[in-house]
Amino acid sequence: MPSTAVRARGLTKRFGDVVALDGVDLDVSSGQIHGLVGPNGAGKTTLLGLLLGLAVADHGQLEVLGAPAGESLALAGGVAGFVDGPGLYPSLTARQNLSALASLRGRVDGSRDAVDELLGRVGLRDVADDPVRGFSLGMRQRLGLAAALLGEPRLLVLDEPANGLDPAGKRQVHRVLTELADSGVTIILSSHRMDDLTALCDEVSLLSVGRVVFSGPVQKLAAESGELDHRLVTSDPAGARSVAERTPGLRVLTGRRSGSPADDGSLFVRGPQASVEDLVVRLVGAGLVPRELGPVVSQLEAAFLALTGAADEEEDAR
Ligand SMILES: Nc1ncnc2c1ncn2[C@@H]1O[C@H](COP(=O)(O)OP(=O)(O)OP(=O)(O)O)[C@@H](O)[C@H]1O
Ligand SMILES: [Mg+2]
Repeated sequence: MPSTAVRARGLTKRFGDVVALDGVDLDVSSGQIHGLVGPNGAGKTTLLGLLLGLAVADHGQLEVLGAPAGESLALAGGVAGFVDGPGLYPSLTARQNLSALASLRGRVDGSRDAVDELLGRVGLRDVADDPVRGFSLGMRQRLGLAAALLGEPRLLVLDEPANGLDPAGKRQVHRVLTELADSGVTIILSSHRMDDLTALCDEVSLLSVGRVVFSGPVQKLAAESGELDHRLVTSDPAGARSVAERTPGLRVLTGRRSGSPADDGSLFVRGPQASVEDLVVRLVGAGLVPRELGPVVSQLEAAFLALTGAADEEEDAR
């Protein structure tokens, strides 16, 4: 098995005037769970579609499992997955869907035992004989995952697989994906949930208007967050403000901030971690006790906003 499951160089894809992908490079090692994250319209689904061979890039090279993209699609032991929701037959039951897909794909074990094992894995054994028409979004997502697992692919491509899942369903899907990765399957998925990506992915790629602006371990992405906005609550807002204003490297922010009542006496400051820690020391030294002090958004979210330029827009809008 090649140690690199996916290698993309300079991938470009246009839809008319829209440049959906603009020179994308991507390396994913075998057995990795790799997350794609980015604002709406960043190009995640387009990139996943190219990996699945559903579309062809205008420029660039894309190797999937050691072969040019497209060649490994629909083969047993090749690439499987879905973009924009799984394609299922509404009038057929869950079990019938999997059997039908297995026979359509050929060379895939569609026996009742194999199908039931898959349904059990995604927690749908109890509804195996119900028509998919009546399935909830989360149930469809899980059946889509089971369908992708027919034929034991070595690369699994999933567009927002946790979308619509309740907490229990999400845990189950996470467990299935982690077990697959442990057994050597490579998984590339997109998600808007930073917590899901942190829990699941070895590495993430952050896309912004068709370009990769970060690729690497999630922890390294967090380090890109730079200066974080913090919310500070004390019993003496005016006193706290004057201490904050005298703390080197710290800026006191003005204007209304989201998620906070207008007059709860909280103060918003921005600066590097060291300055925020210095502020705590100075507050206590001045006899002011910080009741609450924490970042307004998580480090990962801040990195996302900073690297995709969304933070600047927020700033401009203020
Ligand atoms: N079939 C298509 N025809 C025309 N434009 C398209 C098509 N598919 C994608 N686009 C455009 O390409 C860009 C990237 O879209 P894409 O669906 O890949 O984004 P995404 O990152 O998956 O977004 P989301 O988070 O909303 O799912 C968008 O500007 C979109 O409008
Ligand atoms: Mg998408």
